[in-house]
Amino acid sequence: MNQRAKMKSISKFTFTVACLLYILCVPTVQAKKPRPFQCTKTKSESRKNMQAPSSIPPCTHEPITYEDEMETMTSTMTSKTDSVTTVNSATEKTVQFVFTILPVKCRDTVTTKIFVATRYPDENASVEIFSPTFETPRISVFLRKGNGHFLEIPSHILLKPTDIGQKVNKTLVIASDKLIVAYGHQHCTSVSNWRATAFRVRPLSELGNDYWVLTYQSEGVSQVTIVAAEDNTLLNISMPSQLETLFLDLDKHESYVFGGEYDVSGSHIVTDKPVLTMAGNSADKIPRGNVGLDPFVECLSDVTKWGRHFSVVSLMNTSSNYILKIVAAENETTIRWTDGHNVTQIILGMGKFYEHEVILHRNSILEVHSSDPILVAQFSNGLTSSDADESMVLVPPLSHGIEPKVITFPVFSLPPDGENVDSFLTVWVSSDGHYGNLTIDDQQVVWREIGKDSNDSTIAQTYLSVGSHTLSLVGNVSIRAIVSSYHPWISYSYPLT
Ligand SMILES: *[C@@H]1O[C@H](CO)[C@@H](O)[C@H](O)[C@H]1NC(C)=O
Ligand SMILES: *[C@@H]1O[C@H](CO)[C@@H](O)[C@H](O)[C@H]1NC(C)=O
Ligand SMILES: *[C@@H]1O[C@H](CO)[C@@H](O)[C@H](O)[C@H]1NC(C)=O
Ligand SMILES: *[C@@H]1O[C@H](CO)[C@@H](O)[C@H](O)[C@H]1NC(C)=O
Ligand SMILES: *[C@@H]1O[C@H](CO)[C@@H](O)[C@H](O)[C@H]1NC(C)=O
Ligand SMILES: *[C@@H]1O[C@H](CO)[C@@H](O)[C@H](O)[C@H]1NC(C)=O
Ligand SMILES: *[C@@H]1O[C@H](CO)[C@@H](O)[C@H](O)[C@H]1NC(C)=O
Ligand SMILES: *[C@@H]1O[C@H](CO)[C@@H](O)[C@H](O)[C@H]1NC(C)=O
Ligand SMILES: *[C@@H]1O[C@H](CO)[C@@H](O)[C@H](O)[C@H]1NC(C)=O
Repeated sequence: MNQRAKMKSISKFTFTVACLLYILCVPTVQAKKPRPFQCTKTKSESRKNMQAPSSIPPCTHEPITYEDEMETMTSTMTSKTDSVTTVNSATEKTVQFVFTILPVKCRDTVTTKIFVATRYPDENASVEIFSPTFETPRISVFLRKGNGHFLEIPSHILLKPTDIGQKVNKTLVIASDKLIVAYGHQHCTSVSNWRATAFRVRPLSELGNDYWVLTYQSEGVSQVTIVAAEDNTLLNISMPSQLETLFLDLDKHESYVFGGEYDVSGSHIVTDKPVLTMAGNSADKIPRGNVGLDPFVECLSDVTKWGRHFSVVSLMNTSSNYILKIVAAENETTIRWTDGHNVTQIILGMGKFYEHEVILHRNSILEVHSSDPILVAQFSNGLTSSDADESMVLVPPLSHGIEPKVITFPVFSLPPDGENVDSFLTVWVSSDGHYGNLTIDDQQVVWREIGKDSNDSTIAQTYLSVGSHTLSLVGNVSIRAIVSSYHPWISYSYPLT
């Protein structure tokens, strides 16, 4: 205990000095370069000192945690088992996430990270991340209120391309005594092999029994993983490419992987117990023939979480094109979208999907309205028709706003040191709110207003730096939000809901 208090005061001192240095250096220091001090532990004190002029966003978004530190903190945590176990024994941990990590195609190795944070900002959480099959990793983390942790996951736990068509035991489990959020990220380790992806891990409470697969495939390998949370989970998978339904059963923490060099979109997964379904591509060109290659993956939402109204914008601070892809679950689903003054209407049958390339002006808002629930994904185009690289994000339906008032989320650093990589938060704020009332890390931030959609949601974007951030909503507003990081050669995006 004594030693801990000592460490705390040392880090507070280091922090104060570093912050002073930082303020003095603001105009010349690049915001994205990791710095060797810990903002994390003395977050509230830091704010008073960090009154950067509003024209210089970096300080307000100053990363709260850095991976280097986090790794040190993790090892500190595990070595200090005495204090950790005291916390552990007092509280029961429950499993909140079960997931697998699909392969990313890299020339050599891949770096895999998980970010965890408490769901409610005034709670501490005791978290454990482990594999039921492998002895390592078994990682214990104590999350102090409002702080996020980045953890690196060793590669032996990841799915391999040869796992396609197999049942496997490579599930990662996250258990905690308090509700937490989790996000995953991968990038090729080599700095000359710029490929990345990120996804929000859906908690057990969001898993369903009825999924339609939606992903993109032009030249790469489509991949889908289905993870069972309970024993004797019966699975029926119908793929458009195959006449016969596949009948499988999975035990708890087993998963089934399928895919290949074809588009698996429109595959139907029906189960008798809730499962997690993730879909993506190990590296592909969007659209076909583009020069860049980037992987992407998302945890899919089951049909009960689909929506009928969507508004879509470019997630980049530029006029980057993207492909909108839609899948329907009912016959005769009538879908209409407005792109500027042009109105297009299509009718989709059950399990049928549609792709539409959107050529964007910087501030245009595309709206999609449907007679029945649909799943909509946005795929950023690669370099030749965009300022960014390939990424995938499920568009949050209008009806699915973020419920908590405060949410902690990560911006993952990309190689080399995130230089020239821009990260943005795009928000849709319901008519009863204003984006000026949203703060990041308790600071007012500079927003760029994109416009209003027909449901009177205001869409705005702000800049983010690498690290852990906390978005707070003031008042009774509902928001939807997407995080995107990009560079012409490397991109990822993920939704906060
Ligand atoms: C969180 O943990 C800190 C010690 O790290 C402790 O001082 C504080 O009381 C805890 N808060 C809650 C809500 O448990
Ligand atoms: C997964 O592990 C369990 C327990 O060891 C075992 O019974 C099961 O057969 C394994 N499944 C696969 C697909 O290897
Ligand atoms: C899978 O299909 C079989 C045969 O059509 C059906 O009896 C069973 O209920 C289905 N299982 C699920 C989980 O829907
Ligand atoms: C949708 O139409 C197809 C082909 O006409 C039919 O086989 C299927 O049963 C229909 N589905 C529903 C839910 O009505
Ligand atoms: C609308 O359609 C016209 C004619 O097809 C086309 O020239 C124009 O680019 C379209 N506008 C948008 C915003 O897609
Ligand atoms: C439009 O927004 C309001 C809240 O501002 C919401 O209650 C309503 O359901 C939304 N409309 C649609 C079509 O989702
Ligand atoms: C977004 O782009 C505009 C125009 O290129 C630029 O003026 C602005 O500074 C950019 N915003 C950020 C936060 O990068
Ligand atoms: C929200 O923003 C509006 C406009 O900026 C402001 O008038 C209002 O007081 C804010 N509400 C809260 C609860 O901060
Ligand atoms: C917040 O707004 C929703 C509808 O927009 C309403 O149902 C709810 O009662 C409001 N809550 C509070 C605390 O005002």
